[in-house]
Amino acid sequence: MKKLLYHFDTDPIPSVFDSVVAYDGGADHVTQLGGVNEENCGGLVEGAIYTRAPKDKKNTAIFVGGSDLFAGQKLFQLVHDQFFQNFRVSVMLDSNGCNTTSAAGVALLSKATNLQGKTAVVLAGTGPVGQRAAVLLAISGAKVRLTSRKQSRSVEACDEMHERFGVEMTPMQASDDDSIQTAMDGAHVVFGAAKAGIQLLNAKQWQDHPTLELIADVGTSQVLGFEGIDVMDKNTERNGKIVFGGIGIGALKLKLHRACIAKLFESNDIALDAELIYKIAQDMA
Ligand SMILES: NC(=O)c1ccc[n+]([C@@H]2O[C@H](COP(=O)([O-])OP(=O)(O)OC[C@H]3O[C@@H](n4cnc5c(N)ncnc54)[C@H](OP(=O)(O)O)[C@@H]3O)[C@@H](O)[C@H]2O)c1
Repeated sequence: MKKLLYHFDTDPIPSVFDSVVAYDGGADHVTQLGGVNEENCGGLVEGAIYTRAPKDKKNTAIFVGGSDLFAGQKLFQLVHDQFFQNFRVSVMLDSNGCNTTSAAGVALLSKATNLQGKTAVVLAGTGPVGQRAAVLLAISGAKVRLTSRKQSRSVEACDEMHERFGVEMTPMQASDDDSIQTAMDGAHVVFGAAKAGIQLLNAKQWQDHPTLELIADVGTSQVLGFEGIDVMDKNTERNGKIVFGGIGIGALKLKLHRACIAKLFESNDIALDAELIYKIAQDMA
């Protein structure tokens, strides 16, 4: 029986990246649908849950993606709301790679050091990857600060993550040298999650930092989040700090993403969101 993956994307045009990884993760056929929302998802979910016999339902799965994490979270919930008894299939949420990228990054950090009690700063943490990285750092026992160029956006992100995961995080504005320095004061861990191509800290800001121990940057473009690191860094010591760059993290992210797709087809009742994806990442890191 063919393994069918239905990719519900909240953006109008579904992601090519997610389609390639879906095939590499073991799907025999991927159907990508764009613009999926609360109005049109009902019939799509019915098509997935009513078509195969109970023992065969594990061969159908749903992947929720897109660039808007709030829309993705809502859709992931709406899909589950339609399930009843054994009329269900496995579902994964990974809007913009939010769960797989953050889980890979935080799993590598937590392998490098015990995060319990550390102060961790997620710079530019309001995007999908940053929000989930902040959650996973908090779940790992770190005291988390999440920054934005605008205080209102950092507050909104922390509130949303508190509502979904019950974690406490401190929202902070970091928009110029002074506010960045305040956000970084006493920090042990910094996780850069800015839009591609944005430098968050110059070399001096992290190299001379007195308490900083660990740096993770998910950026993979020519300009990286932290001046003077390398995109390939993986557990690399630089100026007394342990550094992970975007490809150093991305290699695990890709392996993890494929492993999660494969897992969807193991049974028809798996819900892959941040917590479970992080557990899988910890086993793989
Ligand atoms: N390594 C990998 O395997 C991998 C996989 C997936 C994604 N990524 C990378 O992960 C990063 C985060 O992805 P995402 O989708 O979460 O990002 P995003 O939503 O595009 O951007 C994250 C945040 O960056 C901030 N930002 C935007 N322009 C800025 C500027 N000019 N200066 C400072 N901050 C700015 C914004 O925060 P505020 O407006 O609140 O300040 C925004 O919410 C991206 O660089 C992406 O390429 C890497």
